[in-house]
Amino acid sequence: MRKHIVAGNWKMNLTFDQANELAEQLMDALEKCNLNKTELIVCPPFPYLELLSDFGSDSYFMVGAQNVNDNERGAYTGEVSAEMLASLELTHCIVGHSERRLYYGETNEQIAHKVDHLLGHNIKPIVCCGEVLEEREAGKQFEVVERQLKEGLFHLSERAFGNIIIAYEPVWAIGTGKTATPQQAQEMHAFIRGLIRGRYGATTADDTSILYGGSCKPNNAKELFANPDVDGGLIGGASLKADDFVAIALSF
Ligand code: 13P
Repeated sequence: MRKHIVAGNWKMNLTFDQANELAEQLMDALEKCNLNKTELIVCPPFPYLELLSDFGSDSYFMVGAQNVNDNERGAYTGEVSAEMLASLELTHCIVGHSERRLYYGETNEQIAHKVDHLLGHNIKPIVCCGEVLEEREAGKQFEVVERQLKEGLFHLSERAFGNIIIAYEPVWAIGTGKTATPQQAQEMHAFIRGLIRGRYGATTADDTSILYGGSCKPNNAKELFANPDVDGGLIGGASLKADDFVAIALSF
């Protein structure tokens, strides 16, 4: 059966010293609690990946990147490849975050290439999908998410798809304090699982972890995670506070 996963996306925050301090606080907090079987992943900015990997090596949490380039290697100044991430022994990488789609024009086609490169290096992609406010107001959220998944992911074989984690992040809920209701989250997660079932069959659909992201906090995580198709969270702001992040992870 699928795993419960809570992943922290630090985005473009913290200096090196602050990142070090947060990692130490996280270790202290995790030492004192029992996460059961919930998997924890921390996704810091690129320059801190190795620092976090050193902290994560005793397995309290795994470490992931926030992005990867869609080419294998070469003259792409300022970019980071899947091969480089693999050489740091990272386990996960976020792909297709709405901030990348909106601010850097990332397309479903690029996302498909990124996923392929990551899987080629045994890194599990955490693939983000979700609609913007105008799309939800126009009742187009299901259509939008379906296109993102079909174009970004459904080229994969059943075997390859087994390594995918999906994060549904309604864009209007990210960093706004406006969380999707548990009903809205469940409705979309069940829809996504149905799409996976249609493409890959019931076993793969049942085994795929689908995370919710968007203003997920200690005070609403329990309600969100109580839904049958919500298998965890992708946490932005609250992952920058060790106690809040751990409290969310303990919300199953
Ligand atoms: P917030 O939790 O800050 O809304 O961010 C969610 C997110 O974008 C995680 O990737």
